Amino acid sequence: MSEDNRLDNFPKNFFWGASTASHQVEGYDYNQWTVWEVQHAKELARTAHQRLSWLPSWDRIKNDAEDPDNYMAGKGIDHYNRYEEDFDLLKELNLNAFRFTVEWSRIEPEEGQWDETAIDHYKKYIKALRKRKIEPFLNIWHWTVPVWFADKGGFEKRSNIKYFEKFVEKISNELMDDIQYVITLNEPNNYVSFGYLLGQWPPGKKTNFIRAGNVHYNLVLAHRRAYKIIKSKRPDISVGIAPNTSHIQPKRQHNIFDVIVTQVIRYAWNWWFFNRVKRTMDFVGLNYYFADYYTGTGKIKNPSRPVNDLGWYMEPEGLYHIIARAWAHYKKPIFITETGLADERDEFRRWWIEENIVAMERAISEGIDLRGYLHWSLLDNFEWGFGWWPKFGLIAVDRKNNMKRTIRPSAKWFAEWLKQG
Ligand code: BGC
Repeated sequence: MSEDNRLDNFPKNFFWGASTASHQVEGYDYNQWTVWEVQHAKELARTAHQRLSWLPSWDRIKNDAEDPDNYMAGKGIDHYNRYEEDFDLLKELNLNAFRFTVEWSRIEPEEGQWDETAIDHYKKYIKALRKRKIEPFLNIWHWTVPVWFADKGGFEKRSNIKYFEKFVEKISNELMDDIQYVITLNEPNNYVSFGYLLGQWPPGKKTNFIRAGNVHYNLVLAHRRAYKIIKSKRPDISVGIAPNTSHIQPKRQHNIFDVIVTQVIRYAWNWWFFNRVKRTMDFVGLNYYFADYYTGTGKIKNPSRPVNDLGWYMEPEGLYHIIARAWAHYKKPIFITETGLADERDEFRRWWIEENIVAMERAISEGIDLRGYLHWSLLDNFEWGFGWWPKFGLIAVDRKNNMKRTIRPSAKWFAEWLKQG
């Protein structure tokens, strides 16, 4: 990159930050995922070779991948207790925004019973961010639900949305006094695909498109109601949503079948949810990890390089196309609410961030109202069905050595880059 002050290409009040999610970092929580982990850890360890040995990183990860402990969120990275230290690290990285989730299962461990200690915790948490002049992006739901809610059928039942509404009401009363940005739901599309079509995440169902679509639609309703509840109390809060979005492309640009399949999948994956909530969102949140090339038979045929530790093909510049399309569709302010990569050796992270920056500069130069970039993730964390071995953190965490935090070189570079402004 040139030596010019590239930060000048971004609005002065642009948010530069990082994202996390409660269950992936906090530790010692108890929700539907916790139960699932206990039930599935052994089997995941036993089948790791069969599922993962194709990965270029296999030799490095196999000890962890074949260990049942890898599949338990357990102590997390003890962020619940070490948040002050972690926020100091955010400051050290010259970041000014942070996305986190308030864990429903902590706040309402039993139906209708509010845990004041947990509420108090998040109050202090938000204060600790404000004290450091870090803008909190409060995320309400990142897939985990209390066990009692899961037992009632979770979001499968329309009549259960009222429980989510009560939770939203509670946190809007208690936790939003000093909040300007709220994300209602994280990636309903991933949740529904993995939980209800592929059956790889709780509740582990392989249903059909109609049933899965029903859960997806219930999440549309949950979002709309949450939006109304929050706005009725605090009209000035910006409320948005953060689906998973991919840069979906035809493998062969001139092949009509590849093009048709691409358009259908783009619509279903990227825009279906947004289209249903576009009147109840103040901003568009984009989570970006994937660029996928589709053939007319619906198969993904991606280039074989470069890939990250999870074997995911990487095209960080594709972020531009997602931003441009989201802007064309909705003309609302855009935040990158997540983007990042599993890269234990930190080989590609700096390149990924640099390409993201170029993509964002390009979008901004076209007059797109892009307002923030939240990298996934601040810290290494529990990567759901894969467990602990994928390392997404700007900051490495050594769980075997008292959860020691170490800033990765790419993050040091990013922090320096941010300092120029
Ligand atoms: C999720 C995160 C996850 C990340 C990396 C996103 O889809 O919101 O929870 O860790 O991707 O897979």
